[in-house]
Amino acid sequence: MTVDELLAQLDGILKRAEGHFAEVTKVTDLRELELGYIGKKGFLAEVSSELRNLDPEARKVVGEALNLVRSKVVGYSEGARGVLVAKETEERIASEAQDLSEFLVRKTDGIGSIHLISQTRAELEDVFVGMGFVVEDGPEAESEWNNFEALNIPQHHPARASQDSFFLEFGSANSVLLRTHTSPTQIRVMSTQPPPIYAVMPGRVYRRDTADARHTPAFHQIEGLVIDKGINFAHLAGTIDTFTKAYFGPNKTSRLRPAYFPFTEPSAEFEITCTICNGIGCRTCSNTGWIELGGCGMVHPNVLVSVGLDPEEWSGFAFGFGIDRCAQMKHAISDARVYLDNDIRFLSQF
Ligand code: PHE
Repeated sequence: MTVDELLAQLDGILKRAEGHFAEVTKVTDLRELELGYIGKKGFLAEVSSELRNLDPEARKVVGEALNLVRSKVVGYSEGARGVLVAKETEERIASEAQDLSEFLVRKTDGIGSIHLISQTRAELEDVFVGMGFVVEDGPEAESEWNNFEALNIPQHHPARASQDSFFLEFGSANSVLLRTHTSPTQIRVMSTQPPPIYAVMPGRVYRRDTADARHTPAFHQIEGLVIDKGINFAHLAGTIDTFTKAYFGPNKTSRLRPAYFPFTEPSAEFEITCTICNGIGCRTCSNTGWIELGGCGMVHPNVLVSVGLDPEEWSGFAFGFGIDRCAQMKHAISDARVYLDNDIRFLSQF
C-alpha cells in the first residue's frame, strides 16, 4: 500500500471511531470497540503491520500519523468510558435507593398516645407516692415459691385452683409461672429490704380466664404493702379510704367485706360503688351495684415467717387491686375487652 492509501485509511478509521465511540451505550460494548480499534488485531494494528513494507521516510510519516490517530481514539474511548461509568453508577444508585419517607412522622398523622392502662397506673402510683409509699417492681415470670408457697398457699390449697395459672416450661415441672397476682412482689420486697416498708407494686398479671366484660386473661394489679411496728386494721381501712377519695373523688364510697385470702388474716374484699350505673345495678356489676376492686388484709404471720420476719416484732397490711378495673370505673368503660382491641377510636380518647 502506498503512503497516501495508508494515510487515507487512517483518516477513515478515525472518522468511524469518532462515530462509534459517541454512540456506545454500555461499558461492555465499549470494551469490544476498544479491541476493534486499538487491540492487537484491531484496525490500527493492521495499518501498523504495513509499516515494515515502507521505506524509512514513508514509515516515519505514516508512523506519526498512526500515533496521532491512536491517541485520538484512546481519547474518544476514555471520554466515552467516563460518561458511561457515571451513567451506570447513577442508574444503580437509583435502582438500589430505598424510599424511607414512609417512616417520617408528619404532624398531621398523629403520633398515638399513652395507653389508658399506663396512664391509670401512673395516676395510681402518684396517689400512693403522695401518701408516702415507694414504687417497687417485680417480674411477670415468677417462681411457684413467690407466687404461692411463701404466700401461705401450699401445694393442694384450693386457692391455687381458683387462680388458674399459666405455667412455663422452665426448670422443673410447675416451678415457674406467669404470676397470677402482684402479691409475689411483696415476698421479693420483704426478702430484700428490712422494715419499715411502705411500698406499692404495680404490674401485669395472668389468669386462665375467659374474656368477658370484667375479665381478660392478662390484666394489671397494684399491690400495696406496709410492714412496721404496731400496724393494725384501722391503718389498712384508713389507707383504702384515703386512696378511694383521692383517686375516685371525695363523694365515692368504698366498703370492706369479710373475705378470705391465705396470705392475710383477717382479710377483706374492697368494693366501690359501680360508676357505670351509680349503684342501681347493671351488666358490669352483675346487678349488685358494687364493683370489687381487690382484696386486702393484715399480713398473715406465716408470710412474715416465710421471709424471715418475726411476727411478734413486726405487723403489717397488704392490699391488691385491679388497675384495669380502676380505669373502667373512673371512665365508665362498660367492657374491659376494649383495652386489648387496639381500636384507635377508643384509645385516642384518653
Ligand atoms: N392477691 C389477691 C388477688 O389477686 C389480692 C390481695 C392482695 C389480697 C393483698 C389480700 C392482700 O386476688
